[in-house]
Amino acid sequence: MQETISVLDFGSQYTQLIARRVRQLGVYCELLPHSVSWDELCRLSPKAIILSGGPGSVTEVGSPALDPRILESGVPVLGICYGMQLLAQILGGAVEKSPKREYGPAVLTVEAPGRLFAGCGSALDVWMSHGDRVRTLPVGFKISARTDNCAVAAMSNEDMKIYGVQFHPEVVHTPKGGELLWNFLFRIAQCTGGWSTRRFIEDAVDRIRRQVGDSRIICALSGGVDSAVTAALLTRAMPDRTFCVFVDNGLLRHEEPERVRKLFSDLYPLHLRCVDAGRRFLDALRGITDPELKRKVVGKVFIDVFREEADRIGNIRFLAQGTLYPDVIESRSAFGGPSATIKSHHNVGGLPDNLGFELVEPLRELFKDEVRQVGREIGLPEEILQRQPFPGPGLAVRIVGEVTEERLRVLREADARLQKELQTHSDFPEIWQSFAVLLPVKTVGVMGDERTYANVVALRIVTSTDGMTCDWARVPYKVLARISSRIINEVPGVNRVVYDVSPKPPSTIEWE
Ligand code: XMP
Repeated sequence: MQETISVLDFGSQYTQLIARRVRQLGVYCELLPHSVSWDELCRLSPKAIILSGGPGSVTEVGSPALDPRILESGVPVLGICYGMQLLAQILGGAVEKSPKREYGPAVLTVEAPGRLFAGCGSALDVWMSHGDRVRTLPVGFKISARTDNCAVAAMSNEDMKIYGVQFHPEVVHTPKGGELLWNFLFRIAQCTGGWSTRRFIEDAVDRIRRQVGDSRIICALSGGVDSAVTAALLTRAMPDRTFCVFVDNGLLRHEEPERVRKLFSDLYPLHLRCVDAGRRFLDALRGITDPELKRKVVGKVFIDVFREEADRIGNIRFLAQGTLYPDVIESRSAFGGPSATIKSHHNVGGLPDNLGFELVEPLRELFKDEVRQVGREIGLPEEILQRQPFPGPGLAVRIVGEVTEERLRVLREADARLQKELQTHSDFPEIWQSFAVLLPVKTVGVMGDERTYANVVALRIVTSTDGMTCDWARVPYKVLARISSRIINEVPGVNRVVYDVSPKPPSTIEWE
């Protein structure tokens, strides 16, 4: 049986990062809701269990709990942040509200390294994010490390193989976090490692075959990396029963429909269908300005179109789409999970309840860079793998306010200038996404000697590793100047360009 680590999710925005770090260390890892039954856990027989952080407080009634049998099972356990506080409370220690919330960097002093901190040094930079703290240790535990603000920043019971850390080893701001997780997996849980992208592909193909059985499946192709990799996995799993459908929703960028058609008809010549549905989407979006409603409307029309295509093909029970983990986590309360809904991403929350299909989402546990790795391993061309993420509802969420044909034209033309100039000047840091946003604001300008009263376009150019956080790209002024000048001079209807200098959080990448 394949060795597995179970990560129990208590609702932290970082939970998937834990799973990702574990996989990077070569150990297969599954994310489970914290309420997973004891029987289910026994069936999975994990080599170790990691309890994630979460927004709750163990001092409050009704906060997410843990089956205490887990702690009697002898399986090594690592509790992170909320996970550590839960361990302390269940095992007889005490947790209290801290007078001062601690959020951000801290320096950890290791007092008793034990197996968890072996080789990590005596002072570590760590990332803290907590309001509660452990006041009294459970019997049999000792303090492994402290910070100035937190007397129990890490605790351990080597005999029980139970460990807790108040900080977040999974985030990049804890540089030695990987070593600590390595210690937990290999020194404490005795994992052997060896899990890889190749194994992921084999497992995913296997899971798809089991889920879909003898049925046929349609795969929603958007032209992006995620749906391309999804289609590649499906085609590998069931080449004769996979039908790829590309819907031109009229909300795509300049020349994008032609580009996608060309790319994918080379890759999937047999079962590719292209549907021109621009008019339907535009009609459905008429008069709508609320961003969440836009997402819902686009999701509904997409599903109507897929339904009709499925009826044409016949015997289709499943719809596959390239949902990734950030889409899941940021729309998660749609599933009743403990995290806050940030946006109903089309891939998840924007879909209507009565879908009429069973969903197949082989990438829903992965981040973008992991998906690119899978795509590379499976042999997809770099031209596809290096494409920037593009939201399912397309330009509809880049036009703040109502979506009309004229506003789509303005945005497309502005965006095309931006892309062209960035391609020409590639001498600055790697860009995660670059796009133009059309604002619902008109301002006064002067062109020639004439007064103008026209649209404002915002440029959004960001760096990121996974879309969960981002920073604005420090694009050289001369490039910004060139983009701005081209847009204002060449795109009728625009007389002002502004540059968005907001990181995520607190902003998001898309404006809607
Ligand atoms: P935000 O705007 O939430 O975006 O910071 C994070 C990443 O997700 C992409 N995004 C979407 N992708 N459907 C998608 O498939 C959507 O509705 C959607 N909204 C945002 C966004 O482009 C960025 O890469």
